[in-house]
Amino acid sequence: MVGNGFITGRQGMGHVLTIAKDYQKTVDFYTDVLGFRISDYIRDSETLPGVELDATFLHTHTGRHHSLATAHIPAPKKMHHFMVEAQDLNDVGQAYDRCIEAGYDMFSGIGHHPNDKVISFYVQSPSGFGLEFGHGSVVIDDDTWEVKNYQQMSDWGHKPQSGKQLL
Ligand SMILES: [Fe+2]
Repeated sequence: MVGNGFITGRQGMGHVLTIAKDYQKTVDFYTDVLGFRISDYIRDSETLPGVELDATFLHTHTGRHHSLATAHIPAPKKMHHFMVEAQDLNDVGQAYDRCIEAGYDMFSGIGHHPNDKVISFYVQSPSGFGLEFGHGSVVIDDDTWEVKNYQQMSDWGHKPQSGKQLL
């Protein structure tokens, strides 16, 4: 890597997005039982025609925008993707090139999420779920954080690649 590696330490490994069978029960479990706090919500009806994508993003005291997210979306795996965050945006671009050269199926090209402000791409792991490789996440300060609703999973990019669909 050209930068100083990954952002981990206090913020943890990255994040995981799981697919919920019972969405509301799952969100209640993470918040009421495990103590996660709501970061924000995305309800997107444009990415997939005819499908309402509904996702809740959750954080803890570590400050990582979301360590866990859960969604009500049609997906073949219970684990949708996990994410790691590089300290340098150039490492995202170089990792993207390496994945293409190595012949991996890409779920998406590079794009930007409006909620955590991450620039990332998604590659399909050999197990079938996604790996999001990104950079630039905001860090949450609970004293000043405001929970917002967003209407798009991505405000640019994250376009499907090689015929694969992430969502
Ligand atoms: Fe993600």
